Amino acid sequence: MELWWGAVVGGAVGLIIAVIGISSFVMAIHPPSHVETIDPTTLSKSKEFAESNLGTSVNPDGSVTVRIIAAQFAFVPRCIPVPQGRPVTIRITSPDVTHGFLIAGTNANTMVVPGYISEVRTVFNEAGDHLMPCHEYCGLGHSEMWSLVRVIPMAQWRNDKNGKASCDIPH
Ligand code: CUA
Repeated sequence: MELWWGAVVGGAVGLIIAVIGISSFVMAIHPPSHVETIDPTTLSKSKEFAESNLGTSVNPDGSVTVRIIAAQFAFVPRCIPVPQGRPVTIRITSPDVTHGFLIAGTNANTMVVPGYISEVRTVFNEAGDHLMPCHEYCGLGHSEMWSLVRVIPMAQWRNDKNGKASCDIPH
C-alpha cells in the first residue's frame, strides 16, 4: 500500500517537473537576457552607484542618466532634476530589500530588487514635479519612502547648472 502511494506521488512529481521543463523549453520562459546584476552588499564601493555618482548626469548628446539607490526607507537622491523633452534613462538598485519605483503621472514603473539594476527610459514632455513613491511594501517606513522628480524647462536647465540649482529641497 505504501509503495503504491510512493509511486503515485513520485509520478506526480515527475509529471510536474516534465511540465515545467517542457513549458520552459517550448514557451521560452527564461529570464530576459539583458538582466544586469550587481553585488548589493558593496554598492557604495561600486563604480556606478557610489554616493558621488548618484543623481542626474548629462551625457554628451544632451540626454541624461539618473542613478538612484532605493534603500529602507529613502530614495537617494531626494530630489531628481531632469530636463524637459530630452531622453532620460533611470538606473536604480537596492542594497536591502525589494522596493517599488514609480513616477506618478507617467508610465515609469518597475520593481527594484537587490542584486539587480532596474532600468527605465522615458521622456518628460511637460515641466513640473512628479512624486516618486515606493510602491512595494518594504517595512515600517515604507509610506515615508519617496522622492521628487522635477522636470525643468530647457532654458532654465542650462542656467541652473543642469537643474542642480532648481532641486534644493530640504531633507
Ligand atoms: Cu521601499 Cu516601500
